[in-house]
Amino acid sequence: MGNKNISYFDANGTTPVHTKVQQAITSSLQHYGNPSTSSSLGLKTSSLIAESTSTILSLIFHTTTGTLLYTSCGTESNQSAIQLVLQNWKGDGIPHVITSTVEHPATIKYLNFLETRREISLSCVKPGLKGSVSPGEIISAINDKTILITLIYAQNETGSLNPLSKLRSLLPENSEIKIHVDASQAVSKVSCGIQEGGGLEGCDLITVTGHKFGAPKGISALWIREGFEVRKVEGGGIIFKGGGQMSGLRSGTENVPYIVGLAKAAECCVTSESGEFYASIMKSFREEMELTLRGKVEFVYNCKSDTTGLPNTLSIGFRGLNVPSSKIIKMCEVKGLIIAAGSACETGKLSHVLKECSVEEEVGGCTLRVSCGFWNDVEEGKRGGRILGEVVKGLKEDE
Ligand SMILES: Cc1ncc(COP(=O)(O)O)c(C=O)c1O
Repeated sequence: MGNKNISYFDANGTTPVHTKVQQAITSSLQHYGNPSTSSSLGLKTSSLIAESTSTILSLIFHTTTGTLLYTSCGTESNQSAIQLVLQNWKGDGIPHVITSTVEHPATIKYLNFLETRREISLSCVKPGLKGSVSPGEIISAINDKTILITLIYAQNETGSLNPLSKLRSLLPENSEIKIHVDASQAVSKVSCGIQEGGGLEGCDLITVTGHKFGAPKGISALWIREGFEVRKVEGGGIIFKGGGQMSGLRSGTENVPYIVGLAKAAECCVTSESGEFYASIMKSFREEMELTLRGKVEFVYNCKSDTTGLPNTLSIGFRGLNVPSSKIIKMCEVKGLIIAAGSACETGKLSHVLKECSVEEEVGGCTLRVSCGFWNDVEEGKRGGRILGEVVKGLKEDE
């Protein structure tokens, strides 16, 4: 896929658009009817949306139920989820929201903004050393004004997974607290099913972000549980007001070709035989890279856990290497390897996520995030490990 001289290992940043997705989008472009109209052209595009919805529901969420609100990006899905819960709340006083300190800025900055405007009060729970938040601590943060728990499922920098499947069962009986999950990094890598044992059972709202699994940038979705009573969304949309498309949840004519592309991306990321995500294959590319790298230099895992964590993601740093991540990344790119820093910044300072996970300053400053995707293979894994190993070894020798 793309330039064969470059090995791209930044799937958590974004993915290439899968060839089959490109084809599906191109062929859907011939259907130009407005899906809100009742002409045969409009009926064709609305049927494309309906077919795409049932594909996504079954392949990603393992269900036939619920609504999919299509949005422009993961940021919009997260903020729509938060607003949907807030706008539906009927109580007095300031509602309370619980989140974690390792959320993506798309969640945490929005919650901080709402808190500053006194539209919510906020509790942020800290993760443990492996980067995951304890369900018990979330439950302890509940008070009588709590209306929403919003948590990331798979952390984009560290790959840590939050154990969310038990959360609903730990809430007080008949609790009206809603659970929103930012599954942007989880889809295509771990199960996001809402059925018993599916990983996200009991959750009410789930964010899916297309460009993290082979769809183009510009298309995402928010799954809304069936029975989630929408009482008070006014003006034809949660955020965008107007024509009242998508059952009055988001105004604006639907991006039909990209919705078709999102469904095709969902098809491309499950194996045809078992219906499971390609996770185990991605894991083998990552393991190959890790193995080759280990043969060349010593490294330290951030938040590593063998049993939990994204199978495609490796977050590592190096002791005794006083070089910022940005320099290592640039040197790797010159040799044909693209990786990322997570969010460790230019100056070698720790990102807020690594800090919250108690990663040491020395290691965090040169932290690298390697994340594999469907376009990689075992040979690229080996090549990536070799390039990275040589770059780091060279830098250590120069010090
Ligand atoms: C966990 C998580 N949530 C939300 C987002 C935001 O997605 P977008 O950039 O499509 O708005 C990202 C993107 O990096 C992410 O990794």
